[in-house]
Amino acid sequence: MNYQAVALAFMAAICTSTVIDDENLIPPRRELYDNGRIFDITHRYHPDMPEFESKNGIGQFLWLPKSMKNGSIANNSEMKLPAHTGTHVDAPGHVYDHYFDAGFDVDSLDLHVLNGPALLVDVPRNSNITAEVLKSLNIPRGVKRVLFRTLNTDRRLMFQKEFDSNYVGFTVDGAKWLVENTDIKLVGIDYLSVASYDYLIPSHLVFLKDRVRKRVFYF
Ligand SMILES: *[C@@H]1O[C@H](CO)[C@@H](O)[C@H](O)[C@H]1NC(C)=O
Ligand SMILES: *[C@@H]1O[C@H](CO)[C@@H](O)[C@H](O)[C@H]1NC(C)=O
Ligand SMILES: *[C@@H]1O[C@H](CO)[C@@H](O)[C@H](O)[C@H]1NC(C)=O
Repeated sequence: MNYQAVALAFMAAICTSTVIDDENLIPPRRELYDNGRIFDITHRYHPDMPEFESKNGIGQFLWLPKSMKNGSIANNSEMKLPAHTGTHVDAPGHVYDHYFDAGFDVDSLDLHVLNGPALLVDVPRNSNITAEVLKSLNIPRGVKRVLFRTLNTDRRLMFQKEFDSNYVGFTVDGAKWLVENTDIKLVGIDYLSVASYDYLIPSHLVFLKDRVRKRVFYF
C-alpha cells in the first residue's frame, strides 16, 4: 500500500514537471474522464464539511509545517482528521470488534469490488431505504455496485457544516433485503452514514457482517 502511494507520488511529480506554462496556473480539477466512463464524485475536504454528530464541521485538518515561503526546500503538509470524513469507505472492523482485532481494515477490501461500472438509482424522496422501497426500485440481478441518490442530495446535506440526523439511510429491513435479494457488493450513499440514524449500528452490522459489502459516499 505504502509502496503504491510512493509510486503514485513520483508519477505526479513527473507529470507536473512537464507543465511549462507558468502564466496560466489554474489547477485542473476534472470530474469526468474518458467521455464519462469515469466520474470523480469525491468531495473536496475543507474545514466546513460536516462531521458525524457535530455542529462545527471538521475544522482545521491541514497544517504546513514545512513551507517554501519560510525557506524550506519544499512544501510539506500535515493532516489530522477522522477516517470517516467526506467520501470514504467503511472497513469491516468498523462495527465488528473481532474483525478489527483480526486486522480487517480497508486494505482487506477487494479492489475488483471497489472499481467498475455502477448503477445510480434515485430513491423515492419521501422515505428511508426500506425493504419496500428496494423492491420498488427493481435493481436487476447481476448489478454489483449501486449508488443511492436520496433526499440528502436535494437537501445538500454534504455541503452543510452542521450534522443533520434526519438524513436518509438504510433501515435494518432495507439492509437485509439488499443482502438477501440482490447481487450488490458495493453500496454508495449521499451522506455520512449508510444506516439511517434510528438504525445506526444494526444496519451497519447487516452490511459488514460478511466482510464483503462496503459503502462509499458521494454528492
Ligand atoms: C511558516 O510560515 C507560516 C506563515 O507564513 C506559518 O503559519 C508556519 O507555521 C511557518 N512554519 C514554520 C515551520 O515556520
Ligand atoms: C506551498 O506553500 C505555500 C505557503 O508557503 C502555499 O501557499 C502553497 O499553496 C504551497 N504549495 C503547495 C503545492 O502545497
Ligand atoms: C429517515 O429516518 C430518519 C430517522 O432515522 C428520520 O429522521 C427521517 O425523517 C427519515 N426520512 C424520511 C424521508 O422518511
